[in-house]
Amino acid sequence: MTSQTIPIMGDGLPQSLRDMLGPEFEILDWDDSPGSSALRRAVALITYGHPIVDGPLMDRTPNLKVISNHGVGVDHIDVPAAHERNIPVGNTPGCLDAATADMTMALLLATARNVVVGDHFARSTEFTHYDPSQMIGYEVSGSVLGIVGLGRIGRQVAKRAMAFDMQVLYHNRRRDERAERELGVIYRTFDELLAQSDFVSLNCPLTADTTNLIGQRELGLMKRTAILLNIARGPVVDHDALVAALKSRRIAAAGLDVTSPEPLPRDHALLGLSNVVITPHLGSASNRTRHRMIEMTVQNLKAGLQGENLPWSV
Ligand code: DGY
Repeated sequence: MTSQTIPIMGDGLPQSLRDMLGPEFEILDWDDSPGSSALRRAVALITYGHPIVDGPLMDRTPNLKVISNHGVGVDHIDVPAAHERNIPVGNTPGCLDAATADMTMALLLATARNVVVGDHFARSTEFTHYDPSQMIGYEVSGSVLGIVGLGRIGRQVAKRAMAFDMQVLYHNRRRDERAERELGVIYRTFDELLAQSDFVSLNCPLTADTTNLIGQRELGLMKRTAILLNIARGPVVDHDALVAALKSRRIAAAGLDVTSPEPLPRDHALLGLSNVVITPHLGSASNRTRHRMIEMTVQNLKAGLQGENLPWSV
């Protein structure tokens, strides 16, 4: 380290982000242990893979000027605690909407049309001949998609679903008449949406209100042929209730890009079920989106260190 470098702490930062920061920064490995010298020295935090940042951690970072989160969801950061301490929190909204909506459709298609079980079967010695009676999935075209959380990502999901000739219902805390006009989506109460949808897609942020939003009661309202898609955050779904619903075929299947905890313990019941497709939090993991997320993370960090308003903040 030279006297000019600026010490910042980040978790698992990739080389591309380090390169974009440039040589004036000293990147300290994430260390939130008691007595961490990295915390004592860091003037900024980059949260890359969702490390927990709470008030006590901020208090142990006496020089902290900005927290820059790689990603739009900031449920792992105590934002009110940061604001109480006048520490701005940056995030990366907008740039990942399309990629996350693409992943929603990928899980929708994979669960509806047996893509993953089909792949395993096609590789196995059990696949001896074409059998038209095998692995008959659910028709996507003409079916009903219910979007819980018609925000930026939910809107992109709606657009894609329309191209698949789906009818799109949505539920938000507030009705969005503009989206109804622009996209042709139809408002339903939460319970109506659950009861009427063939696919229920969770695209809402994780908040106190959305924690365990989908539990036994809600799964019980869904069609027996329905498929649940979670591209939001794991804790939006009560996993014990989901396991029970999938095992008893109370719902047909689930596509999960996120779980709680993440990753699931290797002996978790969900991992043993064939009517669930699980991906390792890949919603925004596409080349162009990741690049833009890194650019925005770096811009927020630099603005915060200059004492300027962050271009994107919560
Ligand atoms: C997000 O942007 O919130 C994604 O989950 C990646 O962090």
